Amino acid sequence: MAKKSVWTSIRFWRRSAAWVTGFSAILLILLTFDTMGQIKMGTDEDLKKGIKKRVPAPTVINYQIDYKYDEKRGHEVPVIGKKEPFFGKEWSEKEARELLHLGKLTVQAKNCINCHTILGNGAYYAPDLTKSWLDPKWKDIMAMVGKKTKEEAMAEFLQHPDKYPTHARMMPNLDITPKEAQAVVAFLKHLSSIDTNGFPRNFSKGVEEFKRGGTYAK
Ligand code: HEC
Repeated sequence: MAKKSVWTSIRFWRRSAAWVTGFSAILLILLTFDTMGQIKMGTDEDLKKGIKKRVPAPTVINYQIDYKYDEKRGHEVPVIGKKEPFFGKEWSEKEARELLHLGKLTVQAKNCINCHTILGNGAYYAPDLTKSWLDPKWKDIMAMVGKKTKEEAMAEFLQHPDKYPTHARMMPNLDITPKEAQAVVAFLKHLSSIDTNGFPRNFSKGVEEFKRGGTYAK
């Protein structure tokens, strides 16, 4: 009887399939645990001690957030700076948590991701909101709406986006209350402090183009 080549053996392919499936399943379980550890929200203590967490505590809204190029990683990363008042005060852990919660509920209830993208989810009809807090255009909006701080300008814009169109497309008025607007700004500020491995990738390019006078389409 002629010896059959292993490549035509059904037993070989069945066994390979079983091994590959088993190995992938174990790898995926390990990766899931790794991801869960990486995205676990930090605490106020971490912030105070300067311990970096991918997702900082809600009280990060009490700090300046900067976006700096990291040579080693080859993209920009959020850098948490000095303390700064947010809507004129420092928010306790409980207050900050409640504010972010209202912000999240508002973002869900008004379906912002029908037009925008948040952490990779949503649409590209309107600008990506993941790093929107870091958008230099708020300086212009501050002047336009006559507010002294970025958070006030953002809250004003969110309540009357139809009054301050800055892009080719206009955001509709979604009847956001002043309290909700404040909460959404907190949500967006916290969002910008999350280390997203440099996503959305083209954020800085969009900013540069905007500075050169182009449209800030992302
Ligand atoms: C119907 C589509 C639509 C929905 C829904 C929508 N937006 Fe917008 N949004 C836009 C468009 C278009 C722009 C750009 C217009 C502009 O800047 O004048 C914009 C701009 C923005 C900006 C400025 C972003 C930047 O960096 O330039 C923010 C912040 C924002 N929206 C937040 C929100 C939030 C929060 C919600 C939900 C509560 C929301 N939007 C819901 C269409 C939408």
